[in-house]
Amino acid sequence: MKSTTAGLFTPIKLGANVLPNRIVMAPLTRCRIGADGVPIEINATYYAERASAGLIISEACAISAQGVGYANTPGIYSEAQIAGWHKVTQQVHNRGGRIFLQLWHVGRISHPSLQPDGNLPVAPSAILPTGQAFTYDGPQPFVMPRALEKEEISGIIMDYQRAAKNAIDAGFDGVEIHAANGYLIDQFLRNSTNQRKDTYGGSVKNRLRFLSEVVSAVSKVCEPARIGIRLSPENSFNDISDDDPQTLFDGAIDHLNLFGLAYVHIVEGIIHSPDNIKQAFNYDKLRARYQGRYIANNGYDRERAEAALASGAADLISFGIPFIANPDLPNRLARGMPLNKADPSTFYTGGMNGYIIHQ
Ligand SMILES: Cc1cc2nc3c(=O)[nH]c(=O)nc-3n(C[C@H](O)[C@H](O)[C@H](O)COP(=O)(O)O)c2cc1C
Repeated sequence: MKSTTAGLFTPIKLGANVLPNRIVMAPLTRCRIGADGVPIEINATYYAERASAGLIISEACAISAQGVGYANTPGIYSEAQIAGWHKVTQQVHNRGGRIFLQLWHVGRISHPSLQPDGNLPVAPSAILPTGQAFTYDGPQPFVMPRALEKEEISGIIMDYQRAAKNAIDAGFDGVEIHAANGYLIDQFLRNSTNQRKDTYGGSVKNRLRFLSEVVSAVSKVCEPARIGIRLSPENSFNDISDDDPQTLFDGAIDHLNLFGLAYVHIVEGIIHSPDNIKQAFNYDKLRARYQGRYIANNGYDRERAEAALASGAADLISFGIPFIANPDLPNRLARGMPLNKADPSTFYTGGMNGYIIHQ
């Protein structure tokens, strides 16, 4: 039989969805959501413009009011938010696309002004992150988070479950559990942020427990073939690290193999730091260990993407910044056309500029 090499335009089955190409739009927080975390018309237009991606992963969406960490970001825990997202998914589907919702709880990366009743943000342990929260009053220094009581954890897991059900009700083709980039699940995984003495802290097995319980709970309301998960073994974003990421994330992959998910989505290296891509961590080992689909991310261009697919280093490639200024990215990649350069000053600011208008 003739063997064929996979490329960016080779269709692929990703769990319950069949994608016409292997170009994934990475999740991108754009801080242009309407009041109360409700998506509005411009958000639907923005996503629909990008429907030629094999799969769109939405910007991160708070699973609860406690999960919010940035001004003007969406949620998926109120009726109005579900209705707002429904308009987004309809427009993406009308344009022939597929879209997953990214489930998000920020943990300590928040601020009392973004929390219900001005409460402290919560975290596995009371450890202050360096840096600033992006609030409605501009950047504010982070505050010391409150360590979660063990009894509270099951409630947060139920929030993930409810949010996943809401996402499916809103018409999403699946959900991506955000376990990357220094937010709550990652805070449980890595030992710089998890210093708990109970069954959620200490050994790798214990630090994997929260992730495992979230995946298990979400799997009860959404078939595993519609669930993906995002991990970032080395990313230091949000002041996070681990003494032994290879052991931790190899362990996570072994565990995730048990669930038969649609995919794992790996942020390789440190975001926005090309010098650090694929240096210390063995991603090939991680990829070989995982028994399902592997989406690779971080700093890919067409050449690197085609090379990774051809060598089998990844099954799909996700692109973040390239999709910001190139809604028609698949067409441009197919034709070898030059790409528009995104303007970082528009990444998180409100308004149309750099969002749905491109010169
Ligand atoms: C403006 C912006 C917003 C982002 N928002 C998210 C997000 O909501 N969730 C997430 O997992 N990653 C987020 N990321 C990270 C991207 O998904 C991606 O990992 C990163 O940009 C590297 O990929 P790239 O080189 O293709 O852009 C964001 C990145 C940028 C630039």
